[in-house]
Amino acid sequence: MYDVHTIREDFPVLKDVTYLDNAATTQTPVQAVCEMLDYFYKYAGNHGRGAHRIARESTDRYEDARDTVASFLNMGSDRTIFTKNATEGINVVARGFPWEKGDNLIVTLVEHHSNLLPWMALKEMGAGIKFVKPDSEGFVDPEDILSVIDENTRLISINHVSNVFGSIQDVRKVASIAKQEQIKLMIDGSQSAGNMPVDIGKLDPDFFVCPGHKGLLGPAGTGVLYIKEPETIYPLSLGGGMVSSVTNENFKLELSPAKFEAGTPNIPGVICLGRAVEYVSEVGVEAIEKHEHSLAREAASMLSEIDGVDVYGPKDRASVVSFNVAGMNSHDVAMILDQTRSICVRSGYHCAIPAVELLGAKGTVRASFGLYNTEDEVEELASTVSEIASMVY
Ligand code: ALA
Repeated sequence: MYDVHTIREDFPVLKDVTYLDNAATTQTPVQAVCEMLDYFYKYAGNHGRGAHRIARESTDRYEDARDTVASFLNMGSDRTIFTKNATEGINVVARGFPWEKGDNLIVTLVEHHSNLLPWMALKEMGAGIKFVKPDSEGFVDPEDILSVIDENTRLISINHVSNVFGSIQDVRKVASIAKQEQIKLMIDGSQSAGNMPVDIGKLDPDFFVCPGHKGLLGPAGTGVLYIKEPETIYPLSLGGGMVSSVTNENFKLELSPAKFEAGTPNIPGVICLGRAVEYVSEVGVEAIEKHEHSLAREAASMLSEIDGVDVYGPKDRASVVSFNVAGMNSHDVAMILDQTRSICVRSGYHCAIPAVELLGAKGTVRASFGLYNTEDEVEELASTVSEIASMVY
């Protein structure tokens, strides 16, 4: 049985606020925070750089975290690379991919800026970009992707779940199109990893990214990148810990994942992330999906019954609900929710200006749900929005 009240005890801040900004970042369970404290109190050594016990322990714990994350997402430890966030993962692929002049790639107009800008900036390297528009609920039709593929298309990059609409893309179908057309596929799992089952082994994309600090419940400054064929991507950063030999003429890169983790990594953050992912596994990702999606669908339904409130996105949504109160700026609504009832939501463009503009809006208010939110909180959100709307409508 899913016991949300027991889960809430592991997130002390929830005593003070109604936290509905989980698509931006989630709270981290005390068990994972304690694991990070242990690093500082007991074994704060560097990773892979010493024979002494402290360095060995920190290396072992960091690599244990890699195994935990790799097994949770079913993707193989040697292809599981730690980054500082999902954005960095996408940049690694965009900059390290063996582009040739005249190549093109496909992205959608319902992406976060982190899955747009790194690709747009490739113009200078000779790679063009094709945009595919979603429908009014934020769904991308895989057939629309197929229709813009030509003989120079090398890569498709698409979100799994939109951070604005909450739409869940048919990534399985996109993956089969990519395979059939022999085009590489990148999936941005920023709003899906930890929020719903994600099986990279089964889905079989070429690249996958997700942050550590959203559905995986880890700390900010952690992210995960999967590369199916690491030998095909040149690393973005060069430096310590990622070469096997250096002369004054040349150097030889280590194999993945070391090849992509130049410099001292975020050791305490990754160790904390590993424990957070264990926590997600203990609760059960299927149960989390059911809980979050049910709260989001309930919230969308309650909000859409309020006069003067527009709710965006599909009925069968993931954990995200974007809406607006007619005649009000989204930031003002968010501010009132916080000031009057300590309800924390995000407002504005959500780092996805093209997606929000498709709605004809200058921003939205966005409530996004986590494993620890409750039906009472949904009701509190809806009743407070109703009061706000009644002031202007
Ligand atoms: N990508 C995060 C969001 O959608 C920050 O809020």
